Amino acid sequence: MKTAALSKTKLAYVDEGVGVPVLLVHGFPLDHTMWAAQIAALSGRARVIAPDLRGFGQTPLAPGDAERGISMEAYADDLAELLDQLDVREPIVLVGFSMGGYVAWQFVRKHGHRLRALVACDTRATADTEEARSGRLKMAENVAEWGSGRVAEIMGPRLFAPATFQKKPEMVAAVRAVVERTPPAGIAAAQRGMAARSDATDLLPHVTVPTLVLVGEHDVISPVAEMKALAAAVPGAELVVIPRAGHMTTMEEPEVVNDALARFVDAVTYHFDRLVIEPETHH
Ligand code: MLT
Repeated sequence: MKTAALSKTKLAYVDEGVGVPVLLVHGFPLDHTMWAAQIAALSGRARVIAPDLRGFGQTPLAPGDAERGISMEAYADDLAELLDQLDVREPIVLVGFSMGGYVAWQFVRKHGHRLRALVACDTRATADTEEARSGRLKMAENVAEWGSGRVAEIMGPRLFAPATFQKKPEMVAAVRAVVERTPPAGIAAAQRGMAARSDATDLLPHVTVPTLVLVGEHDVISPVAEMKALAAAVPGAELVVIPRAGHMTTMEEPEVVNDALARFVDAVTYHFDRLVIEPETHH
């Protein structure tokens, strides 16, 4: 991986391929490896950038992050800073998975001018219920003592469709290993940040870029019904339900996800190029 010296951390990222920049933002408590199949498939037609967010994978926390929490806005600011460092000036396709989606809403709010298109993957726009919030704060307070293995035990059963556990045990084990490697302080920082996040539902009708919504048929963390409502609230958004997958669509059904993303990236590349080229044809 490469690293970029940002104001708050040294951010690790993968940067492969040439073309339209596609920024892949992972979920909790994971890292860029959840996108391995998409990096391989899309880097033939786009510039794929996949960072490890602060506190995950190979990106360290900043002092005080674990205690204060990292807001979704702060993660989004890290991403904008990364794009500056990479000298990415053209509008990007932002793909946010689950917590990466929570970050994406803040990116839309604050850095929306940098967007060409948006993909919301197995995520939600609503804030937490009181119960979810107190569960997160409990984990944040105890994870140093529990260890990340306990987090893998708590979250693991909810990440995949039932059949995936039987059919792809090595993939389930690989995700478990990523969670176990995640430092407890990174888990605490993100849980505090997610617990404090605001509702982004009000933003959805104002999203003006082409938007694709992906969700696993059997996702119990961000269920189809909720993603359907999200897609319906974004003008012109397209919803694709990924058959057989649970929450971890990108790993459970990589080919289906890759096809949907490739089609969308090609469509927004063409669409955007036309928008740029058209004024010149009138000269
Ligand atoms: C994720 O996959 O990012 C998490 O399940 C999101 C969450 O905890 O809400």
